[in-house]
Amino acid sequence: MQAVIHNEVIDTILERRSVRAYTDERLTESEIQTILQCALWAPSGMNQQTTRMAVTQEAALIAELAEDAGRNGFYYNAPCFIFFYAKKENKWGACNAALAVQNAALAAKALGLDSVVIGCVYDYLKSQEGEQKWQKKLALPEDYEFVLGLAVGHGAETPQAKPRNQENIIWK
Ligand SMILES: Cc1cc2nc3c(=O)[nH]c(=O)nc-3n(C[C@H](O)[C@H](O)[C@H](O)COP(=O)(O)O)c2cc1C
Repeated sequence: MQAVIHNEVIDTILERRSVRAYTDERLTESEIQTILQCALWAPSGMNQQTTRMAVTQEAALIAELAEDAGRNGFYYNAPCFIFFYAKKENKWGACNAALAVQNAALAAKALGLDSVVIGCVYDYLKSQEGEQKWQKKLALPEDYEFVLGLAVGHGAETPQAKPRNQENIIWK
């Protein structure tokens, strides 16, 4: 790690890890509210606020998605799952949703929780069958499309940091 200035926000960013094992402790309503508000307060292109989020702590619902998508255990038994959808055909829809996901992940970390971004159900949720079934189930309009999910909970592992490629930074 290069020398950086440390404070609470920066350390939260640097210490977030994708966690792939969770206890079954549920999140409190205020934890969920805080995470969702932080996601909602992400910036969006021309302030169009194109991201919709659907949150669940219904284990059966997440398990049904795993079954439908053929992705057994994709959420690592996290008790909470947030679906992030973008308005279709909006130039910045996917970017806006991704920014909301990261705000949510950082808010979770700041609350002492852990998370992992989930893209592996993308192909299923974007398929005709996945859109028809799940957008109805989640009460999302047809002109929205899935971007990413976030599994959130109390982590039951402490993964090693994955080194970052410093060559990805260009100084001119
Ligand atoms: C767009 C995107 C999709 C991802 N999809 C998955 C996924 O489906 N399953 C999973 O376990 N991790 C997924 N991840 C997490 C990455 O594997 C993880 O961020 C990366 O390995 C770096 O590790 P770190 O988050 O601990 O720094 C995804 C991350 C991103 C940004």
